[in-house]
Amino acid sequence: MSGSSEGTVDGLEVYVLAEEHASGMFWAQHGISFLLKVHSGGQVHEILFDTGNSWEPIEHNLRLLGEDLSGVKAVVLSHRHYDHTGGLKGLLTNLNREITIISHPDLFRPNFVLPLREIGIPFTRAELEDLGARFLLTRDPIEVMSGVVTTGEVPRTSEVEREMTIETYTVDEDGRLVRDPIMDDVSLVVKLRGGSVVLTGCSHAGVVNIVKRAFEIAGPVRAVMGGFHLISASEERIEATVRALQDLGVEQVITGHCTGLTAECAFRKAYGKGFAQLAVGKVFRFP
Ligand SMILES: [Fe+2]
Ligand SMILES: [Fe+2]
Repeated sequence: MSGSSEGTVDGLEVYVLAEEHASGMFWAQHGISFLLKVHSGGQVHEILFDTGNSWEPIEHNLRLLGEDLSGVKAVVLSHRHYDHTGGLKGLLTNLNREITIISHPDLFRPNFVLPLREIGIPFTRAELEDLGARFLLTRDPIEVMSGVVTTGEVPRTSEVEREMTIETYTVDEDGRLVRDPIMDDVSLVVKLRGGSVVLTGCSHAGVVNIVKRAFEIAGPVRAVMGGFHLISASEERIEATVRALQDLGVEQVITGHCTGLTAECAFRKAYGKGFAQLAVGKVFRFP
């Protein structure tokens, strides 16, 4: 694994394992988990992106899909919130082997919302390492495999995304509660010949900032899939976000989780057939 991002992959399938909506007999939950099947050089490589807040619904959904995670090469965690990391212990117990887990150095830093409630990763590093986790925590982009790269820490440059949509806190060296901008929010970029697909967790870095970062790292972005955290954003910000993604050349938006109904409707209206709602059990294919 390195920081470079040479090459493209031949195809991508994304299985939605955790999300707030579900189709048929699948189980929904608060959180995100995607199984990626990356087609490259005649082989299929499996990567897990986030683990929802609990493992049991994921296990149930995998069974219904006729899939398992035994072949997963690496886990990428978008950030430390419990609704993206809470399934980790169940996953590791189920895998019963060593596995690389890629994320940001702030993964185990406490994170709170007010009234005071912990919303960070609900496990210690040691207990996860005992179960086989091998952490690769970095602020830089990491190539998970040729053609698949993380954004690393995302610069917060976009004007419309100055307004934070979630106020969170952490503790400083003196034990004081201080604002936490969730700099650990990283996304995953899969490079395909027709443009990249970007997978986001909650987009706490701002989905426009994330797409800009993906563009810098890997060129044109054709699709963005995941939570955009616009649930409490102003209508002005939502409209500006839709326009910015269109201006950046994004052709397809697949969203749910923390995006919120108002923003989902705005994307549906602007994107038409290029919009899709996330739902557990759905499989999205990108040739
Ligand atoms: Fe989330
Ligand atoms: Fe989050």
